[in-house]
Amino acid sequence: MPRKKSSGGQAASASELKRLPDSLQKFDQTIVLLGLMGAGKTTVGRRLAKVLGLRFIDSDHEIEAAANMSVSEIFETYGEDDFRSGERRVIKRLLDDGRPKVMATGGGAFLNEETRALIKDKALSLWLNVDVALLVKRTSKRDTRPLLRAGNPTEILTRLAKERYPIYAEADLTVESSKGMHTEVVSDIIDVLDEHMKQREKEIEV
Ligand code: S3P
Repeated sequence: MPRKKSSGGQAASASELKRLPDSLQKFDQTIVLLGLMGAGKTTVGRRLAKVLGLRFIDSDHEIEAAANMSVSEIFETYGEDDFRSGERRVIKRLLDDGRPKVMATGGGAFLNEETRALIKDKALSLWLNVDVALLVKRTSKRDTRPLLRAGNPTEILTRLAKERYPIYAEADLTVESSKGMHTEVVSDIIDVLDEHMKQREKEIEV
């Protein structure tokens, strides 16, 4: 059965909205969160969506719902290649609907050239860059990730970091988020988004 990763927006509290800078009060773009397994894309994404008053979607959850199977079951039954083509189709459908949202993606999604081009075209991408040691600690809590069952998780995550970080670095924005506390990470993202929006306003004025 698909593992539970809830989606759907919740209204932000008055205090959360008060913290939101002016530049983000009417923010209506899609933000796509990138990063390795354990980077906190889902947890941070859900909180960020709440603060921005946007819908939250987790692409892995959508893939699981479409297949009525968990990611692990899809890997076991059909293999990684089929999972990747499902992932590409689902992300395309979610980005093509034109509704602003915060979307967490599976760690491998941005590696696909077509998906990467689509994300660059339709969304603001943000890489949550986290130390491998913290990723290992976080991912050891749940055995839901097929790629980490294939050997030593520290070695696998170190290799994936080496392979993927140059590609994640193509994201529009990056937040170093090894501090651990998800609330702090959300607040860092808000700062980076604020800076980005102010910069864009300046460019428009010129
Ligand atoms: C994967 C990451 C997983 C999931 C699948 C493959 C990857 O998602 O999509 O197990 O290739 O890094 P999370 O990054 O949400 O764990």
